[in-house]
Amino acid sequence: MASIELRNIRKSFGAVNVIKGVDLEVRKGEFMVFVGPSGCGKSTLLRLISGLEDITSGEMLFDGKVVNALTPSKRGIAMVFQSYALYPHMTVYENMAFGLKLEKAHSKEAVRERVEKAADMLQIRQYLDRLPKQLSGGQRQRVAIGRAITRDPKVFLFDEPLSNLDAALRVATRIEIAKLHEGMHDVTMIYVTHDQVEAMTLADRICVLRDGLVEQVGTPMELYEKPDSIFVAGFIGSPKMNFLTGEKAAAFKCTTLGVRGEHMLVKPDGIWEGEVIHTENLGADTYVYLEMGQEEPIVVRLEGAMQHPSGSKLRVSPMEDRLHRFDEAGKPIR
Ligand SMILES: Nc1ncnc2c1ncn2[C@@H]1O[C@H](COP(=O)(O)OP(=O)(O)OP(=O)(O)O)[C@@H](O)[C@H]1O
Ligand SMILES: [Mg+2]
Repeated sequence: MASIELRNIRKSFGAVNVIKGVDLEVRKGEFMVFVGPSGCGKSTLLRLISGLEDITSGEMLFDGKVVNALTPSKRGIAMVFQSYALYPHMTVYENMAFGLKLEKAHSKEAVRERVEKAADMLQIRQYLDRLPKQLSGGQRQRVAIGRAITRDPKVFLFDEPLSNLDAALRVATRIEIAKLHEGMHDVTMIYVTHDQVEAMTLADRICVLRDGLVEQVGTPMELYEKPDSIFVAGFIGSPKMNFLTGEKAAAFKCTTLGVRGEHMLVKPDGIWEGEVIHTENLGADTYVYLEMGQEEPIVVRLEGAMQHPSGSKLRVSPMEDRLHRFDEAGKPIR
C-alpha cells in the first residue's frame, strides 16, 4: 500500500504545457477517480504517476519519498489501459504469469498460486488454458486486470479500462473492480473514466481535472451536492445540470441558477412554464426536454414511464433546497 502525493507537477511536450501545476494527495488504500473533458490531461497525469512519462517539474512522492527518478517497475505499480494487449500465442495462464516470471524472484509454485488466486478473484479460472482469441472481450479485459493483480502492486492505475466493453459487461466488470478493491486491502487505485456511473459508484473521491489543473477534489456526494464551480456542477451528474440565466436566475438573486433534472417538480402551480420538445423514455425514468427561452432545453427527470406529448405545456418548479446559485464568475453563492 502507498500514499501518493503530487506537488506542483507540471508536464510539457515541447512548447505545449499539458499539466500546469497539479497538487494532489491520494491516500493509502483510496479509490481515486479522475474525470474531465477529453484532452484535459487525465492519461498524461496517470502516466506521470506510473513513471512511463518524465515529469517536467514538481515532485512525486510515494509514502513520503520522492520517486521522480524511479522507473515504473521500481514504483510497485500496475497499469491497465483501455486497449490492453494480451500475448496472442500465450494461454491465459501464461499471460498472467508472464510479468511474474520476468521478475525471476518466485518459484514455479508461487507463480501458480498467485495466478490462480487472481483468476479466482476475477472468475476466469476455467479459462486459464485458453488462448486470448477464444475469450470474449470482457473475459480478455479481466485477464488484463488479472495480469496486473498477480504482480501484487501497491498501486493500481486504470485508464478507461471498460470503455471497449458493451453495456452489460461494463456493469459486471465495474462491480468486479469494486469487489477487487474491497478484497485487496489498502491497495491504492487511480481510475480514469468518462462514465458518470463508474465515477460515482467506484470512487472514494473524485478529482475533476480541467485544462491541466485540478478543478475540485471530493467525495462523489460532495461534488454532486456542493460543486465549487459551474464547471464541476455541469460535469458531475447525468443528465447534465440545467443552467438558467436572465430573469429566472435574477429572481433567485444570482447570475446562473443550476437545477438538476431530478430536482424539478412538475405541478399545476409551477413557477415556470415550458413547452415539451422531446421526451426520452428510459424505462425506470423519463427525461422531458422543455423549451423555456434558455440557451439549451431544460431537462426534467421524472420517475417511471411518463407520457408528455411534444408541443404540450408543462409547469415546473425547482426544489428550493436543491438549488445551486452561481455568481458572474461561476462561483457558488452559499
Ligand atoms: N506525447 C505527446 N506529445 C504531445 N502532446 C501530447 C502527448 N501526449 C498527450 N499530449 C497532449 O496532451 C493533452 C492531454 O492529453 P491526455 O491524453 O492526457 O488527455 P486525456 O484527458 O486523457 O483525454 P481523453 O479523455 O481524450 O483520453 C492533449 O492535448 C494531447 O494532445
Ligand atoms: Mg486519456
